[in-house]
Amino acid sequence: MKYVEMQGEKVPALGFGTWQIKGRNCVEGVKDALDMGYRHIDTAQAYGNEAEVGKAIAESDVSRENIWLTTKVWRDNLNRENLKDSVEKSLEKLGTNYVDLLLIHWPFPEIELEPVLEEMNDLVEENQAFNIGVSNFTAEQIERVQELSRVKLLANQAEYHPFLSQEKVLETCRAHDMMLTAYSPLARGDVIGNETLEEIGSRYGKTEAQIALRWLVQQEGVSAIPKAASHVHREDNFNIFDFELTSEEMERIHNLTRGDRKVNPSFAPDRD
Ligand SMILES: NC(=O)c1ccc[n+]([C@@H]2O[C@H](COP(=O)([O-])OP(=O)(O)OC[C@H]3O[C@@H](n4cnc5c(N)ncnc54)[C@H](OP(=O)(O)O)[C@@H]3O)[C@@H](O)[C@H]2O)c1
Repeated sequence: MKYVEMQGEKVPALGFGTWQIKGRNCVEGVKDALDMGYRHIDTAQAYGNEAEVGKAIAESDVSRENIWLTTKVWRDNLNRENLKDSVEKSLEKLGTNYVDLLLIHWPFPEIELEPVLEEMNDLVEENQAFNIGVSNFTAEQIERVQELSRVKLLANQAEYHPFLSQEKVLETCRAHDMMLTAYSPLARGDVIGNETLEEIGSRYGKTEAQIALRWLVQQEGVSAIPKAASHVHREDNFNIFDFELTSEEMERIHNLTRGDRKVNPSFAPDRD
């Protein structure tokens, strides 16, 4: 495993994404991932699977302190009235008294950042969230939250894969000593069949998915959280630490960018 070392934290660079994995599949999937060596799990209030993630952690042989656990606060809870209660409920479902990272899921247009950040700062002081961060924030919005928060934000989670450049956001994250967590790192499966990734993969005996993930985690300050419902894919995605891409290969993959955004809800901000 490679780690992203940031602000004194050591985050496993490869995590397991759980969006759209529910019920027994989620419990079994997360347990299988932990068995395999994954030590970073990504969930959210909106995924409706925090209880299943918690059950998997409880049933696994891996102790809680060896897992990096991220959850995200959803829209209706991003206000002074609901935030703390909602996080308490999340912790209850997750079967733990802290998360390693608590994120604002989206910069919804109506949310007031000041009170939200105040509440999140309190949660850090109360050790319910060891770190806080954001998701889907633009470079300008990142600057703003860093200014508003007493505690330095650790991460921005954003869509990032070979077909979507995040140059500006990444530059801003680096300027603030923040990790960029790449979501939809496989472009929701679309990296499969890409000729460049396939050709580079054939040099190392690796799949397109493995090349895309390796490209991400080989970048400074970047982690990736692929989702895989199947054991075979989970294993494939985990086996990316026994080879290294050359700088020429890294560049070729950077050049695949074509502004291909997979996650673009109506409430998304104007992106960089
Ligand atoms: N913060 C946010 O707003 C946000 C938004 C989107 C996602 N996320 C997080 O990021 C995680 C990952 O993103 P994602 O689920 O959108 O997409 P993704 O990880 O890019 O792609 C998942 C798709 O790729 C397939 N796949 C996985 N591994 C593969 C492999 N080795 N070979 C071939 N196909 C493979 C999966 O198939 P199977 O499942 O059938 O194996 C699934 O169809 C989410 O689960 C979530 O935790 C966060």
